[in-house]
Amino acid sequence: MDKFRIRGGCRLSGSISISGAKNSALPCMVASILTPETITLKNIPYVRDIITMRRLLEDIGATVLTPELRTYSISASRVEVLRAPYELVKTMRASVLALGPLLARFGKARVALPGGCAIGTRPIDLHLAGFERLGAEVWLESGDVVARAPASGRLIGAEIGFDKITVTGTENLMMAATLARGETTIHNAAREPEIADLAELLNKMGARVRGAGTPTIEIEGVEALGSAEHAIIPDRIETGSFLVAAAITNGELEITNCCPRHCAAVIEKLRETGVEIEELNQSTLHVRRAANGLTASDLTTKEHPGFPTDMQAQYMALMTQADGRSVIAETIFDNRFMHASELRRMGAKIRIDREKAIVAGPTRLTGARLLASDLRASASLVLAGLAAEGETIIDRVYHIDRGYEKIETKLGAAGGDIERIRESVTSPLSTGAKS
Ligand code: EPZ
Repeated sequence: MDKFRIRGGCRLSGSISISGAKNSALPCMVASILTPETITLKNIPYVRDIITMRRLLEDIGATVLTPELRTYSISASRVEVLRAPYELVKTMRASVLALGPLLARFGKARVALPGGCAIGTRPIDLHLAGFERLGAEVWLESGDVVARAPASGRLIGAEIGFDKITVTGTENLMMAATLARGETTIHNAAREPEIADLAELLNKMGARVRGAGTPTIEIEGVEALGSAEHAIIPDRIETGSFLVAAAITNGELEITNCCPRHCAAVIEKLRETGVEIEELNQSTLHVRRAANGLTASDLTTKEHPGFPTDMQAQYMALMTQADGRSVIAETIFDNRFMHASELRRMGAKIRIDREKAIVAGPTRLTGARLLASDLRASASLVLAGLAAEGETIIDRVYHIDRGYEKIETKLGAAGGDIERIRESVTSPLSTGAKS
């Protein structure tokens, strides 16, 4: 399994270009199941989860072509298998997004129930309750969720209210409702930019989705959906990660091909801590640390438009270099502080008190041998390694390959001293555990 070797102390400089958003590309790819016609998606990131989703689509019988880099042409005209197997679901939870489109178009679906996850329990009960609201029969069989539409073969529009905001739950039900008979309203829906991006694609396919990006989404079902072409939005979490990379190395970066509007909460929080961020235009940010250093500031993760949980680990790494005590409250997932113990191995002062992490800074970080546990935790270890004295080795970087496109190449081009150590002959994007 590949590792990263990082020698800290280099100030990043120059510019880094942002890739397409993994968490938008995945639902947009699976939306292709809703139509027999071809969907063309542009700005697809070259990350391992995309390859897993491609495999899922090909396993059910879809054809996936890449006419050019970062462009996927997907045709689900000859779907033969209505199933997402455990082998795939265990490597990528987002495979559950196949449930909605398969059920809506073919009237039945079988998807392995995802197991536990490094960052929390993560049940899909809200997804399943939503499908039942749309008239489906849903049951568990040999570890799989099986769902069947009413006798007419078509789901029936309904009112769906989520007790808790769920991103993929909103996406799954929104996709299923596009082919249902009648009107569906989703209340307390997730408002992440990826939801609005998916809705934009669905409407290009001929769906009637209104209100995506707000707490109430209305979908008027149609008989069938058609072909479309769509460019995936930039990755706001990759953007946030590189903003922190510039600040933690006391460097100066220009971040291009990003969408500042989608990163508002992260930008506002980083500015509070003394990071100077300037919006040069609608797709470019300039970032550097203020002359008088970083100041500790408390954080609470929230659903969008609040501060994203996917940036919590990276923020914690930054707070180890800030002046003072910061309290970081994780409100979305119940086990998302795995990176704290690894940062402590580098000398960070972090105490965990249930859903809160208390960070005292600034502390001098020294390089160490570290173990990545999930996608965003591994990003925070890379950032800490760049700020530390000496050499850091990070094991299990397959976690980071799931959601960051060639992070070592991008950081290397901006002056970071980071290299990938290949330990096996398998492809650089070798398979591994889920995040
Ligand atoms: C999406 O996961 C993202 N993944 C996650 O990003 C992200 O952390 C998360 O949203 C929150 O922003 C993708 O988009 C592929 P949720 P998702 O359903 O949809 C509970 C990354 O690093 N819940 O919004 O799985 C759940 O346990 C990944 O890129 C239920 O209780 O998250 C959690 O506590 C990691 N029942 C909360 O809701 C349900 O049926 C929010 O989860 C569904 C969720």
